Amino acid sequence: RDSKVIGERLLEWYDRHARVLPWRVPPGGGAADPYRVWLSEIMLQQTTVAAVKSYFERFISLWPSVGDLAAADDARVMAEWAGLGYYARARNLLACARIVSDAGGFPRTREGLQALPGIGPYTSAAIAAIAYDAPETVVDGNVERVVARLRAIETPLPAAKPELIALAETLTPQERPGDYAQAMMDLGATICVPRNPACGICPLIADCEAREKGIAAELPRKAPK
Ligand code: ADE
Repeated sequence: RDSKVIGERLLEWYDRHARVLPWRVPPGGGAADPYRVWLSEIMLQQTTVAAVKSYFERFISLWPSVGDLAAADDARVMAEWAGLGYYARARNLLACARIVSDAGGFPRTREGLQALPGIGPYTSAAIAAIAYDAPETVVDGNVERVVARLRAIETPLPAAKPELIALAETLTPQERPGDYAQAMMDLGATICVPRNPACGICPLIADCEAREKGIAAELPRKAPK
């Protein structure tokens, strides 16, 4: 139940079971290249991990640094983006690369990151945590589900959002917040899935209040449309 224990258990699980993804530094590897983290997070905004992998590798091989991408031909970048959809992301990607390249690198704070085109509250937190190991809490749909179940929050979404964010913040450890953020994403994507969660192999089964009440698969509840 203790937030600190939950964070530690999750990190131990991540050390053994982290998904190997092309933009990732292995668990415990510390800081990641902000360019790679930024590029992956923009691609992942509305697209699945499976679909993003090959695009990410192609972009990195064509443009290994933010300076390379800033100098790229617009039409070429749009052509390489084709298939990922939501083309405003690609236009913001180029605008952002040029600002960052002119500034000599990515901003070091969440506020600075969030002032850039295409970077909102979610993406700024993800980059700060994963690239800089800043103690920022990253809350996406996966994290909302994990937290709603851990704490058996029965308030429906979207009303539950502020409470889920506050609870996610109390769970974020000061140590390895970047690994912690990615561990929550992995748990939500592979075990604490929306239907038929694999509670039997969950590292947090002993801490999960929804599991105890027998309602894990029902959470988070959603307000009728
Ligand atoms: N979805 C969004 N960001 C991600 C990341 N860094 N790893 C896995 N899935 C993600």
